[in-house]
Amino acid sequence: VESVIVAIDGPAGTGKSSTSRAVAAELGLSYLDTGAQYRAITWWMINNGVDVADPAAIASAAEKPAIVSGTDPDGPTITVDGADAAGPIRTQEVSSKVSAVSAVPEVRTRITELQRAIAAAAPAGIVVEGRDIGTTVLPDADLKIFLTASAEARAARRTGELKGADLAATKEALIKRDAADSSRKTSPLAKADDAVEVDTTDLTLQQVIECVVTLVREKQ
Ligand code: C5P
Repeated sequence: VESVIVAIDGPAGTGKSSTSRAVAAELGLSYLDTGAQYRAITWWMINNGVDVADPAAIASAAEKPAIVSGTDPDGPTITVDGADAAGPIRTQEVSSKVSAVSAVPEVRTRITELQRAIAAAAPAGIVVEGRDIGTTVLPDADLKIFLTASAEARAARRTGELKGADLAATKEALIKRDAADSSRKTSPLAKADDAVEVDTTDLTLQQVIECVVTLVREKQ
């Protein structure tokens, strides 16, 4: 294929971002973190006084923020109405509210359109990571990967990333977010029937990267 589209889905803390960025960098592809887009729209809702417990209020604001993603795997960026959002979208407040915002169908329609446009414009192809990329956003992707890991492994990785985070609380928050993401009506977190499932619990990041790079090369 001239341009290769790779979809990488899975719950939080499975290594999706680290894997996707490294694979894209190694193969000269673009990279899109779709979770960052949902976090960005959530951050905008919080800043603009939209009640995230009110789906109708979220729906009517869904088109308002301008969300722009930079797709260089060596330095991905995200801006909201021109402001750098990379730092503020990683707070616990955004993490705890993003599932409610991303469950609103108007939000998903809006963000899905952005994602498809970015993927179509990527010159050599793209690695897109998220929850519903293989099932809904890019069902014709050349390769679909579904990453999993035990809740313990996922929480331990996240605790390592966040300064001062508590393991038990992190695990509880991840389980809660995955349950919300998996049970929503509109394009829930799910493995596509034709996705390759990779359990990363006992693998190093380098092993996961090598595994995915090999699978992409088979498609090129
Ligand atoms: O990947 P990350 O953990 O940053 O994603 C944050 C949240 O964004 C997820 O918990 C989920 O609610 C939402 N999301 C989504 N669909 C995607 C990517 C992320 O609903 N494709």
